[in-house]
Amino acid sequence: MTKLTIKIDGHEIETDAEGGSASILEAAKLAGIHIPTLCHHPSLEPYGSCRLCTVQIVKNGRKKFVTACNYPVEEGLVVNTSSPEIADIRKMILELLIARCPQEKRLQELAGEYGIFKSRFMQEDKNCILCGLCHRVCEELVGVSAINAQNRGVSRDVDTPYGELSEDCIACGACALVCPTRSILERKNIYPLSSADIKEMEEEFLSGMIDCDLGVKREMFAGKSRIEGQDGGMATSILQRGMEMGLLDAAVVAQKNKRCGANAVLVDETESILQAKGTKYVRVSVIAPLLDALQKGKKRIAVVGTPCQIRVVRKLQRQGYFNERFQGAEIILIGLFCFESFDYESLKSRIRELYDIDLDKAEKTQIARGKFIVAVDGKQYTCPVRELKNQVRAGCQFCDDLVSRLADISIGSIGSPDGYSTVIVRSGRGERLLEAVQFSRREINRDDIVKLAAIKKKNADKNFAGIVAGLPERLEAEKKECDQSPAVCSNLGT
Ligand code: SF4
Ligand code: SF4
Ligand code: FES
Repeated sequence: MTKLTIKIDGHEIETDAEGGSASILEAAKLAGIHIPTLCHHPSLEPYGSCRLCTVQIVKNGRKKFVTACNYPVEEGLVVNTSSPEIADIRKMILELLIARCPQEKRLQELAGEYGIFKSRFMQEDKNCILCGLCHRVCEELVGVSAINAQNRGVSRDVDTPYGELSEDCIACGACALVCPTRSILERKNIYPLSSADIKEMEEEFLSGMIDCDLGVKREMFAGKSRIEGQDGGMATSILQRGMEMGLLDAAVVAQKNKRCGANAVLVDETESILQAKGTKYVRVSVIAPLLDALQKGKKRIAVVGTPCQIRVVRKLQRQGYFNERFQGAEIILIGLFCFESFDYESLKSRIRELYDIDLDKAEKTQIARGKFIVAVDGKQYTCPVRELKNQVRAGCQFCDDLVSRLADISIGSIGSPDGYSTVIVRSGRGERLLEAVQFSRREINRDDIVKLAAIKKKNADKNFAGIVAGLPERLEAEKKECDQSPAVCSNLGT
């Protein structure tokens, strides 16, 4: 690797970096020289928007101001990180930012370090300092792009497309983790969650014993209904009987779709529920059909979804979104177990590559014991799930919930004998719905579920650790403290 020698504040520094691949900021950090930053995160592409990292370089005998976070080191480069001129530039930047966000604590502290205690400019009273960390994390690391920077000048802000409820956000919380001002938590149309939020929602919506590994539960068993379905057909039976008994007016379910594998649809007849049976292994957004149901005046609606979709609906419930607009609406959540979901187009071409079959024509797809199984024309094809790792959807690597911890009833195949579904009942609402269903019961293998849940959590924790490690030290400590979840096994509600 080529070594480069540069001079920062009079110190000669040798960097390992190949020409053009390291920034002045990184070189300074290696040498223990502090340069203030606001929009920088080492795991993200340089953004260069706040300009707080401004330094002065001398190149070919000429002096110029550049931003340290995105200026590449070059052999012989001379850099000054502090001078009265640099301090004046940073003061002006901080004064402008203070004018935008006068209440922002971190900004006040930074400005205080430069002797700025109030701004000469007109005050706006926002919280977002427009560092761009939230939407860059969402796009570059999570891979979801639920939010973006919008508008120009004073109207610049971070939002979802058209300011609508996001159909893409998976409630992973990565944006909230990097936001230096917590401003992103005020947005009502995305759903970032922390582990503290999850605990609060468990307390608000669920009741039963807290199982440290699998969440709140009233009971947990393997069930097989009378409906012929994938595994025990429990989800289909619950919806069907719920409608027959007048406990549900409608349900939002994933239905097979040849264009994208599956999409969420609103169903209000028992026959349509039977058409939607079977596992899809693709993520679908439930927001649009749920709003459609509410606008049509449906009152008791079941939503069947993956853990991320369940989190999204719970977050909206907690914000009072549904109650404010649709009085008397009761939403019951049936969460599916999910280790990861696939990008349908990519999965389809991989399956064609492996077996020369068309996934659109699959009679059944299933994941069992680490194998992906697809049946076409009465013939079964099997491959290890790990062979499909490149087909896993963006964002799944940040999800730590295997068992839909926030659902009223969680259902999956892990832990149950063949032909049965594992059922975890987590609330009184879930319990009442289940009373209408006739099914046979068996014991589950809890260890199988716990083992897989732990693997999923470990993967997500590893990815989040990468984000936390890039935060400024003080913020890193704050985030760790606020996200620490004591593992208590106790009783929640009645
Ligand atoms: S919670 Fe996750 S998916 Fe949603 S906006 Fe934030 S980073 Fe993106
Ligand atoms: S919401 Fe937070 S992370 Fe996003 S741009 Fe504003 S201050 Fe930065
Ligand atoms: S940290 Fe360099 S421009 Fe923001």
